[in-house]
Amino acid sequence: MIASVRAEDIARRVVAWQKRHGRHDLPWQNTRDAYRIWLSEVMLQQTQVTTVVPYYHRFLERFPELAAMARAPLDHVLELWSGLGYYSRARNLHLTAQTVIARHGGRFPRDFDAVLALPGIGQSTAAAICVFAHGDRHAILDGNVKRLFARYFGIAGYPGDAKVQSQLWERAERALPTKDVEAYTQGLMDLGATVCVRGKPRCDDCPLNQDCVAHEQGRTAELPSPRPRKAVPQRHTRMLVLLHAGEVLLEKRVASGIWGGLWSLPEIAADADIRELCVRRYGVKAGAHEALPRIAHGFTHFKLDIDPLRIKVEKVMPRAAAPGVMWLPVEDALGAAIPAPVRRILAAL
Ligand code: ADE
Repeated sequence: MIASVRAEDIARRVVAWQKRHGRHDLPWQNTRDAYRIWLSEVMLQQTQVTTVVPYYHRFLERFPELAAMARAPLDHVLELWSGLGYYSRARNLHLTAQTVIARHGGRFPRDFDAVLALPGIGQSTAAAICVFAHGDRHAILDGNVKRLFARYFGIAGYPGDAKVQSQLWERAERALPTKDVEAYTQGLMDLGATVCVRGKPRCDDCPLNQDCVAHEQGRTAELPSPRPRKAVPQRHTRMLVLLHAGEVLLEKRVASGIWGGLWSLPEIAADADIRELCVRRYGVKAGAHEALPRIAHGFTHFKLDIDPLRIKVEKVMPRAAAPGVMWLPVEDALGAAIPAPVRRILAAL
């Protein structure tokens, strides 16, 4: 009883705050269209609102409905996604669109378990979709909400750890109100993004400050506990920027592994014979070389240093177009589905 009274009180404060101070005009709000809500929630996984907004508009312009996305080649989806990162999200988006056509008659499923079964949709994303599209009652626990609950309930330990995560889920389930679930859910997201922020939380503006454990104990800087430090391996690669008549050569990456299915610059081993390789693999005669500044890129599990080598191509041998290779004007290459560090290299040419 006490616990449920407390839960209702937390929710009441979050809802009242959301109504006065929360966000009400995000482009994916004020709709019940599950397709639009799903698209926004997938884009918002690991990505901030301000980054997502222009992508969201471009996607809806090109794919006003799910069937249009399902019909499009994966390359078109990846191209539009280019720059948002975590490309498995784009591949799963496309796969989900096709799954909804094949298994659900083209209508985004209504049932929580059916939503959860779709590719790339975890517990929290499925919950957010069902809350916002249908007003269903489900708890969310995205990265921001984990931080908020870890502080409010004083839960130490890295939230990515399974034990800590299950404690947080338990709290999230218990705090879930019986009414106003949409405003409550949006309120948690808004608090996490604008008040209970990572660096310097704005506790004075928080509706939960009167009984927040981290605030009371001066532990907002410690909670949530950071990821245990593991040495992140450093990798290194070289990339060829082959230029000919204002065009650059791009090569399609294999579907699996980093940047799977994206167009990229050719990667070469440290000891490769560049001239020989250029003739054999790309049918070009390489001229003058120039080392371009090193680009450092961080992945979740490793760091990658890229040394780009700019090469003036003297001659392109006439031959049948090589599969998985294309020449594009540099301007057009910047609009293709290319990884972010490759875009940095090309943009600096
Ligand atoms: N982060 C995840 N989902 C969100 C949403 N619907 N609105 C704002 N930020 C979010």
